[in-house]
Amino acid sequence: MNFDAMMQLIYRYMAMRAPTNGMRVAFYRKAGVEIGKNVFIGANVFLDVTWGHITIKDNVYINAFAKILAHSYIPNHPPKKDVGKVVIEQNVFIGLAAIILDGVTIGKNSSVGAGAIVLKNVPNNVMVAGNPATIKKIYDDAHE
Ligand SMILES: CC(C)(COP(=O)(O)OP(=O)(O)OC[C@H]1O[C@@H](n2cnc3c(N)ncnc32)[C@H](O)[C@@H]1OP(=O)(O)O)[C@@H](O)C(=O)NCCC(=O)NCCS
Repeated sequence: MNFDAMMQLIYRYMAMRAPTNGMRVAFYRKAGVEIGKNVFIGANVFLDVTWGHITIKDNVYINAFAKILAHSYIPNHPPKKDVGKVVIEQNVFIGLAAIILDGVTIGKNSSVGAGAIVLKNVPNNVMVAGNPATIKKIYDDAHE
């Protein structure tokens, strides 16, 4: 493992365990996640920066234990690796322990329910939940 990869692992480890939001955001930025303004990242949130890229725009709230994956690697039957880009647009809420898979964009003003597993892009101004996550609600009052 090269030095940069080792530092990235250390920053990610520290980000997951840091006691304050400011520290978690700072460590995840150091690990390579693009994070906008006024972003909350809960304790034990896992942002996968091993491969791929994650962008989190302004005013995003990510609850504890959520996981955002930017790659998927299956070592057998047959081996397969997907590397993607995840974008969390402005004013998104992500519920406790939700999982967002590689290649997904969560649209502006949308919410992801607690425990959801999001496999596909989510449009603006909706709430998705469940496994696999589907649209449960459309927000009529969202501001563009
Ligand atoms: C995302 C969330 C805030 C949306 O709430 P909301 O907009 O008020 O949505 P509603 O409660 O009106 O639910 C709309 C529908 O989605 C369903 N739903 C809501 N949350 C769900 C979830 N997490 N998983 C599965 N279905 C869910 C509801 O049962 C409802 O279905 P119905 O229309 O068939 O009755 C809420 O679903 C949620 O997950 N909250 C978790 C908050 C959290 O993580 N807290 C951590 C500490 S702050």
